[in-house]
Amino acid sequence: MTAKTNSAKKLFVKTYGCQMNVYDSERMIATLENSGYQNTQHPADADMILLNTCHIREKAAEKIYSELGRLKKLKAEKPGLKFGVTGCVAQAEGAEIMQRQPMVDIVVGPQAYHRLPKMAERAMSGEKVLDTEFPEEDKFDHLPQSPKMRRAPCAFLTVQEGCDKFCAFCVVPYTRGAEVSRSPARIIDEARDLVDRGVREITLLGQNVNAYHGQGATGTVSLAGLIAELAQIDRLARIRFTTSHPNDMTDDLIAALGHCDKLMPYLHLPVQSGSDSILKDMNRKHTAASYQLIVERIRAASPDLLLSGDFIVGFPGETEADFQDTLNLVEQVGFGQAYSFKYSPRPGTPAADKKAVPEAVKNDRLARLQTLLSKQQSAAQESMVGRVVHVLFEKPGKQPGQLIGKSEHLHAVHAVCDATSIGEIVPVRITKSMTNSLTGTVI
Ligand code: 5AD
Ligand code: SF4
Repeated sequence: MTAKTNSAKKLFVKTYGCQMNVYDSERMIATLENSGYQNTQHPADADMILLNTCHIREKAAEKIYSELGRLKKLKAEKPGLKFGVTGCVAQAEGAEIMQRQPMVDIVVGPQAYHRLPKMAERAMSGEKVLDTEFPEEDKFDHLPQSPKMRRAPCAFLTVQEGCDKFCAFCVVPYTRGAEVSRSPARIIDEARDLVDRGVREITLLGQNVNAYHGQGATGTVSLAGLIAELAQIDRLARIRFTTSHPNDMTDDLIAALGHCDKLMPYLHLPVQSGSDSILKDMNRKHTAASYQLIVERIRAASPDLLLSGDFIVGFPGETEADFQDTLNLVEQVGFGQAYSFKYSPRPGTPAADKKAVPEAVKNDRLARLQTLLSKQQSAAQESMVGRVVHVLFEKPGKQPGQLIGKSEHLHAVHAVCDATSIGEIVPVRITKSMTNSLTGTVI
């Protein structure tokens, strides 16, 4: 496919799910732009629509089928319009998608995005294209950089993909495959490129990011080693990483949270449950006490760190006493931010066929857990009032004259400030805490 033949073709990508999908969508757009496509924000203008899907929780596939149903009318208006389903639903459902929704032309899993231009070309000539393999080659080696365009101040950068942990509830090891770490040299090149485009903060992404082990020129590089190298990039002001498994919080990474000034004092460290028997059934390979010990060590290194977590309620076999253990753990640990979910069985995972906890019980537990977590989240935000935080301003706020950005602790902060400060880190005294953000005055 040459740029010429496709110069007028427009591409619309809709992204579902996690930050890694946001990153993948950006790279897919860049890849197809290199083949002559033009990105559009309007599905009605598009010649190709890609749905980049997530399969982590229930109804993901159903959501995609209803979205396709809604988009069908566009196909009636423009018969040449092509549809693709990418991401984890594509990986999990494969050819089934085309059987249920014959209007779909391309089904491609997360490891084969570098082949998209070829697939698009085949789809444009009327073929159906399915690719859900885990190829030997690294997709990132092939995905091109987009031309040097200015970027927003915060960016994601995938450093590791896949997972070997096999938590009993999770589809990731099946949809994203085994753990693969990208080479440090490539990551650093990409980070430099982002910084050249105006990026000041990079969040390193991986399903199990702290298991990162890239092959450097002189041996294996850990996540802490990679962060130390990235911290040398001058205009790069802030580094974050997500998502981590408690068992991979190595000494060097904990130490880095203490001493690396560019590494922000925020850590997302899912625990899922506070009950040892549920943690065992979940195959988490840690206990409530070992999680607490790790958090203690992290807080000893970085006392001001804001801890975030993920929780699942209603995992098969969870009793009221198990759930109480989760509430107790939350009380004892204290979370400044949290994400909590009702367990949903994912086909093909070990827990999928176990006896379900009744829906009403799940709903009740989720509501009780969320009440406690929201209280802790509000308290963490309230504790910022009166403090000076450093805000990386990202864009104009809703109120005239205001900008919005993120503090060290990832709180959204609004303040009146000149628009030239977008992309700069500015000290702000916090005056008020609202539901999901803070307000302050630039000092
Ligand atoms: N049911 C509910 N929540 C899940 N998660 C992953 N799989 C499931 C599932 N089957 C949650 C976990 C994980 C987060 C990304 O999504 O809490 O940390
Ligand atoms: Fe899924 Fe995370 Fe467990 Fe890996 S560590 S299986 S990605 S929940």
